[in-house]
Amino acid sequence: MELKGKSKSTSNEVYEVRKNHFLPTAFLYYKTPLQLVKGKGCYVYDEKGNEYLDAIGGIVCISAGHNHPRIKEVLIEMLKDDEIQHTSTIYMNHHVAELTKKIISEAPKGFNKCSFTNSGSEANELAFMAARHATGETIVINLRHGYHGGTSGTLANCGHNTWRFKAQPVASVSSALEPYCYRCPFNQKPDSCHLECAKNVETTIQTSTHGKIAAFIAEPVMGVGGVIKPPDEYFHEVTKIVHRYGGKYISDEVQTGSGRCGETLFLTKELKIDADIITTAKGFGNGAPIGAVLMKDDIAESMSGKLYFNTFAGDPYQARQALTTIEIIEEEKLIPNAKEMGNYLLNGLKDLMKKHEIIGDVRGRGLLIGIELVKDRETKEYAKEETAEMMELAKERGLLIGKGGLFGNILRIAPPLSINKKQAEKILSILDESFSNLKNQG
Ligand SMILES: Cc1ncc(COP(=O)(O)O)c(C=O)c1O
Repeated sequence: MELKGKSKSTSNEVYEVRKNHFLPTAFLYYKTPLQLVKGKGCYVYDEKGNEYLDAIGGIVCISAGHNHPRIKEVLIEMLKDDEIQHTSTIYMNHHVAELTKKIISEAPKGFNKCSFTNSGSEANELAFMAARHATGETIVINLRHGYHGGTSGTLANCGHNTWRFKAQPVASVSSALEPYCYRCPFNQKPDSCHLECAKNVETTIQTSTHGKIAAFIAEPVMGVGGVIKPPDEYFHEVTKIVHRYGGKYISDEVQTGSGRCGETLFLTKELKIDADIITTAKGFGNGAPIGAVLMKDDIAESMSGKLYFNTFAGDPYQARQALTTIEIIEEEKLIPNAKEMGNYLLNGLKDLMKKHEIIGDVRGRGLLIGIELVKDRETKEYAKEETAEMMELAKERGLLIGKGGLFGNILRIAPPLSINKKQAEKILSILDESFSNLKNQG
């Protein structure tokens, strides 16, 4: 690709600035970190013009594809027309209203109220506040291995020590055991278990609260945790328990939303999860900083008389980009494509499992896929170093992927929903070759 607008600073210069001035909390992928300067569809380009197939979308944010021509056109038109960039919610704006109408029409029945935010973390913060306000209770139950954001309240509900800070207050929360079938905390097998993980939500409430809760929060598929996919029945059991103890069920669709899981725009709707609040972000804006919280009328109405303000939330450009993204997802039939390509990748990965002992498990929904690497299939020892090496080997071959899991041993695949069969084949063949070239085969 021609790099007309390429970076004015070299990668080395950028690296120096980061090293000297960024907080040490900012982390980079790869031994020789990449500076990505261009993106088009499913591909991204570094400053030297090297092309990479982007199978992670700058952490699960690119749904319609990088720089989709329609999004470019819409934004350029808005700029040319001097459309206002910032209004905040104290003024009316038609882009925001149009996005609201659309998202409500796609949400499960009964979700009639909506508020925009700048991120997934903020969406979850607002969800916690709403649930606590509506119930008058404080305790939020979360899941071990869950991730809901990098703000104070969301980190209090984070199931990973790696993301939490020292002295991070974790008051008013409690954690239930993870519905992680490959490493079941109850030593059960999915086909013969009695949903002990779902029942554990009740035990947690009974043993670590006064018997009433404000909310329960869970991702329909736990992304950062390593694409942990609970059995569908899990949600039906848990919603009943949560409601029995007076809580509101928060479905965190920051990663699973926007049709990524190849079902409907919201996985909550497809799985018929009886949620009270849904949060979304990431792929919702196809890279623009926008999140949303949807809730049922009774919760919203309980907040009457209070004020919630978020300066940039739902500004016109972000709102238009989110709405155009949903339109593209619908018009280009990207949800069925995510399902088809997701199944194709999952089947291909299961075949790779027969060849590469290091693959302990392959799982996912649509285009949210995890490949768990283990040193030994019996002991399931975490293959953390091998996972890091796989990232390097794939990058050298022109493929960008992600990793996750509490011990960093799960490769994550989440390409744009527009990926085609040839690109999916390329992902599989590069992974195959990379697995064959691993120094340590587990
Ligand atoms: C499930 C989930 N919820 C919330 C968040 C936080 O979103 P953000 O980083 O936009 O604040 C993330 C981010 O990775 C996430 O994966």
